[in-house]
Amino acid sequence: MYHRFDAIVVGAGGAGLMAAMQLARTPGIRTAVISKLYPTRSHTGAAQGGIGAALGNLEEDYPEWHTFDTVKGGDYLVDQDAADIMCHEAVESVYELEHYGLPFSRTPEGKIDQRRFGGHTRNFGEAPVRRSCFAADRTGHMILQTLYQQCIKREVEFYSEFQLLDLIISEGVCCGLVVLNIKDGEIHIFHAKAILFATGGFGRAWKITSNALSNTGDGVAIAFRRGIPLEDMELYQFHPTGVYKLGILLTEGARGEGGILRNNDGERFTERYAPTLLDLAPRDMVSRFIYQEVKEGRGINGSDFVHLDLTHLGADVVENKLPDLADFVRVYLGVDPVRELIPIQPTAHYAMGGIPTDVDGRVLMDESNTVLPGFYAAGECACVSVHGANRLGTNSLVDIVVFGRRAGKHMAAYVQEAPFTELPRTPDDEARQQVSALLSRERGESAPEIRETLQEEMMDKVSVVRSEQTLQSARKTVHELQARFAQVAIQDRQTWYNSELLETLEVGYLLDLSESIIAGALARQESRGGHYREDYPERDDTNFLRHSFVYNTPDGLRIAHKPVNISKFEPKERKY
Ligand code: FUM
Repeated sequence: MYHRFDAIVVGAGGAGLMAAMQLARTPGIRTAVISKLYPTRSHTGAAQGGIGAALGNLEEDYPEWHTFDTVKGGDYLVDQDAADIMCHEAVESVYELEHYGLPFSRTPEGKIDQRRFGGHTRNFGEAPVRRSCFAADRTGHMILQTLYQQCIKREVEFYSEFQLLDLIISEGVCCGLVVLNIKDGEIHIFHAKAILFATGGFGRAWKITSNALSNTGDGVAIAFRRGIPLEDMELYQFHPTGVYKLGILLTEGARGEGGILRNNDGERFTERYAPTLLDLAPRDMVSRFIYQEVKEGRGINGSDFVHLDLTHLGADVVENKLPDLADFVRVYLGVDPVRELIPIQPTAHYAMGGIPTDVDGRVLMDESNTVLPGFYAAGECACVSVHGANRLGTNSLVDIVVFGRRAGKHMAAYVQEAPFTELPRTPDDEARQQVSALLSRERGESAPEIRETLQEEMMDKVSVVRSEQTLQSARKTVHELQARFAQVAIQDRQTWYNSELLETLEVGYLLDLSESIIAGALARQESRGGHYREDYPERDDTNFLRHSFVYNTPDGLRIAHKPVNISKFEPKERKY
């Protein structure tokens, strides 16, 4: 089936919906949103603790301080021009969300309430500041519901439960998509003047992750297969407080409200590592502190977890400001957070890297910033780069609303000028062959087994701490798994709701992305932000203060580099 729209957004999380709204408010632009999920099930809904914006509602604060914290938190690999835009536009974006009806938590005077979050400080690092605007610990959920309602109001057309299969680039212009209707297995071609990928992250490459089952990096992998390089893939964030063994996110807002991390001796161990910010040091650091405590035998009962202690906060704070957290730990752990300690461990959480873009969401085809006309990306799948080597908590929601909005506006202007580029004669050939090969192979390898091995390998060897030896070993395993994947077979041959087919496609995406993450991690022979190399424990600005671009070439992966934009803050050693 063939469809034609002026603009198409793939992914119905916060970035995609924000962009779709900007498009839909421009008269005459026909916009569609394609999503493999029903929109309100998108992973934005899992973001808990808040969206950072220097509103200054409870104490003095300025966008400039927010920019500084973002740059320092990202271990100076942040493009400072982009971070400056993000932190300044965060303020108007939060008010825009408020005007759309987002039910923020309120101060007694009725202002948007704000709480502390890791790495957010006043006056360039002096002390923690209340910058995170929140709706209890359901902020992402509220953003998603609010934006979805606005999109419905503006008559955006939704194609829900449609799986992306391919990106069509013709005559140097991005002009279409090949998509599978999950309900009946039919393949559709979508033709457009502009396409935005807002397809989210790929935390499912790891065994312990806060990410939903759907976060398999489909858009990132498909762009990569179509020749778009990926930026800074080695820079992946582990959130310090995942539910032990399950990885489910327990918001940093809990520490923002005063929660404390404790080791087996009951000690608040962050005092030894980050005397000023303590438990609210940036995530890369806190995850490493936990790793170190466990390594030195101070994990709980000698095991590989520590405790999050909320028992001193009182029932009122826990039940009213952290209601979802309280539910999660009661349901999944049988622990009452008001009275008992919560077992936690670092969990794979967020990709700082992804599809390279400029500050208007335009996708870059190389490290010289050549734009691919018609192709945009925003949100976690994109790398602007505002998070550098480590994203600060709350800045993912800022990123999606600010850059989703900017990309949507740019697309709206672009599609009013640009013509439709003619599609190639049979643009769906490759996708059809891929699907029919999977459906017709009688016997072969099992995708779930490949996925399980991959996730364990990534967790063991490409995690909070890495080294040449662990990375080489992981690379070897991924290559073996890729060879096995070429022979994968599935049992279910139905066309409708074939979840086995979808999960198999997803394993293929995760394998390609894992290979690129490992290639970047091997090449970055230093420690910076979320990338900690045991064999190169120091940050090395002389050789590695640069972005990495990994290209998918017929001869294998190739790495290139791009300078970091340093316009305001000179790199310094990070101390908290
Ligand atoms: O801890 C959290 O609530 C997560 C927020 C984020 O990743 O920004």
